[in-house]
Amino acid sequence: MNTPSRTAPDTVHPSEFRRAMRNVPTTVTVVGTMNGDQPVGMVVGTFTAISMDPLLVGFFGDQRSKTLTEITAADRWSFSILHQDDGLVAEAFRGPAESRFSALDWDVSDFGTPLIRGAVITIEAIKDSVVRIGDHDLVTAEVTSLREGDRSRYPLVYFQGGMTRLDPEHASHSGDTIPAGSPR
Ligand SMILES: Cc1cc2nc3c(=O)[nH]c(=O)nc-3n(C[C@H](O)[C@H](O)[C@H](O)COP(=O)(O)O)c2cc1C
Repeated sequence: MNTPSRTAPDTVHPSEFRRAMRNVPTTVTVVGTMNGDQPVGMVVGTFTAISMDPLLVGFFGDQRSKTLTEITAADRWSFSILHQDDGLVAEAFRGPAESRFSALDWDVSDFGTPLIRGAVITIEAIKDSVVRIGDHDLVTAEVTSLREGDRSRYPLVYFQGGMTRLDPEHASHSGDTIPAGSPR
C-alpha cells in the first residue's frame, strides 16, 4: 500500500485551495479565556464537536497566532457561538488583541472564563490536548458546562469572505426536508 504524501500535489495551489474553501460556510465562535483579570480571545470558524464520550469539542488554531499561544497556555476556555446579529462582535475581534472585549457585553463565569452575552450557545471546557497538525494546532477540550439560548435564534455564518445569515424561510424547517441521517 502506498503511503499518502504529506505534501499537496503541485496541481493544487494554496491560494486556489483557500479560494475554494471560502465557499464552505462556518459558524463564528469566540474562544476565550482569562489571563489574570484580562479577557483574551479570538474568532474561529473551525470550532466543532468531536466526541460524545467523553464530551469533547475543539478547533484548529494557526500556530502564528499570538492569541493562540495565550489561549493554549490556559487550562480552561469558553466557546461563544455568535448570534446572527453579532456581526459587530466578530468585527471587534479583527482588532488588536487587547481591545477585543472592550466594547462588548461579557461576564466572567464562576468557572473563570469570559462569556459573551447573547451567544446562541456557550460552552465551557477544560483543556484536553493540543496537537500540532501541519501549520495549525488541533486544540481539544472536555465540556464542563453548556448554555443554550432560544432555539429560534440563528447563528452568524461566515461565507465567501463575509458574515451572512441563514435564510429564515429555509432554516426553520424541522430537518426532515433533506435526509441527513440520524444523529449519533
Ligand atoms: C470568520 C473567521 C474565522 C476564523 N477562523 C480561524 C480559525 O479557525 N483558526 C485560527 O487560527 N484563526 C481563525 N481566524 C483568524 C483569527 O481570528 C485571527 O487571525 C487571530 O486572532 C489573529 O491572531 P492574533 O490574535 O495573534 O493576532 C478566523 C477569522 C475569522 C474572521
